[in-house]
Amino acid sequence: MIFVTGGAGFIGANFVLDWLAQSDESVLNYDKLTYAGNLNNLASLNNDARHVFVKGDINDSAHLCGLFFEYQPRAIIHFAAESHVDRSIVGPAAFVTTNVNGTFSLLEAARTYWQSLEGEDKENFRFLHISTDEVYGTLAADDAAFSETTAYAPNSPYSATKAASDHLVRAYHHTYGLPVLTTNCSNNYGPYHFPEKLIPLMITNARAGKDLPVYGDGLQVRDWLYVKDHCSAIRRVLEAGRLGETYNVGGWNEQTNLSVVHTLCELLDELQPKAQGSYKDQIKHITDRPGHDRRYAIDARKIEKELGWKPQETFTTGLRKTVEWYLANDEWTKQVQSGEYLKWVALQYEDEEEA
Ligand code: NAD
Ligand code: TYD
Repeated sequence: MIFVTGGAGFIGANFVLDWLAQSDESVLNYDKLTYAGNLNNLASLNNDARHVFVKGDINDSAHLCGLFFEYQPRAIIHFAAESHVDRSIVGPAAFVTTNVNGTFSLLEAARTYWQSLEGEDKENFRFLHISTDEVYGTLAADDAAFSETTAYAPNSPYSATKAASDHLVRAYHHTYGLPVLTTNCSNNYGPYHFPEKLIPLMITNARAGKDLPVYGDGLQVRDWLYVKDHCSAIRRVLEAGRLGETYNVGGWNEQTNLSVVHTLCELLDELQPKAQGSYKDQIKHITDRPGHDRRYAIDARKIEKELGWKPQETFTTGLRKTVEWYLANDEWTKQVQSGEYLKWVALQYEDEEEA
């Protein structure tokens, strides 16, 4: 089987669902179920014996070691993280605890287990670390996109802790020979995306008749990737990636935030028109994020050339599928917009000044 951390979160859950739709190899899904982890994402697997869920913290090395020796996974795919930049600005400590210390504990447990293996089991074992393009910092409008050799220059507590975890993973390969792989991915979007991030926040706020809060001038650029394309890239890297290598994964799809919000409003105007006017009337520019990275862009030629992976979804088709998913899954949204979510929204957006 494979061992997945953070498989109840946005990308992890999509990965587990896609994996089990395409393979009979079981998944041991290890997740702390923080505010971002949600077993409803995995409800379709409720009676599926191929999915084993264990609630736990990646800082608990004894628990991890016990599970590795009990279930003998052939690979670990490490998604678990604190993942929201704005939260890392308000409260960085949890990011250090999970992203740095937690990855360290996981690496230690994996090393102990891997060193106990022999022959083909040892040779074929993989530790795949899921990281972000944000470790490379920010780009000016005319800079070349991030490649695997771009120097790390993380700017937020989130990206700094992800960078630290990437370095630990790299060091465990260099020092101990642990068979690691790392992917650095651009912004994902798609089903089960927690509505604190730009795209799901805009969809849910628009439908609730609330402001659409755009930070600063809204001309910051992100490279958007449909989550199922990310999942297929991860499967491909796991299958054929070269040990110790990093692979950038992106959608070849740079958009300003304002353009993303406009497109979402146009889709909603078409699919669920308001009684009067356009959803665009709800856009409100608010105070910018401190230290806001201006532009991310991924050069994804290495993974295409070496492993033959390319994204399949265009932004037009992917965004439409995403909006349709949210329109069809009101119950999911209602459930995640509960106590903890409301506290965050109040902290982050209430009393916001118009920019
Ligand atoms: P998410 O916040 O939606 O989910 C994170 C999951 O990790 C949750 O299920 C949470 O319960 C779990 N978790 C958190 N702390 C834990 C701990 N200490 N022990 C065990 N489980 C814990 O995040 P996501 O968007 O699905 O991102 C997954 C990974 O992909 C992260 O490592 C993130 O850095 C990376 N990434 C995300 C994006 C993106 O656009 N979302 C882009 C690039 C890279
Ligand atoms: P986000 O989804 O938080 O991802 P990241 O910061 O990791 O790229 O934000 C995407 C972009 O959207 C980023 O430039 C910040 C901006 N943004 C807003 O303008 N308003 C919002 O309410 C949020 C959550 C994000």
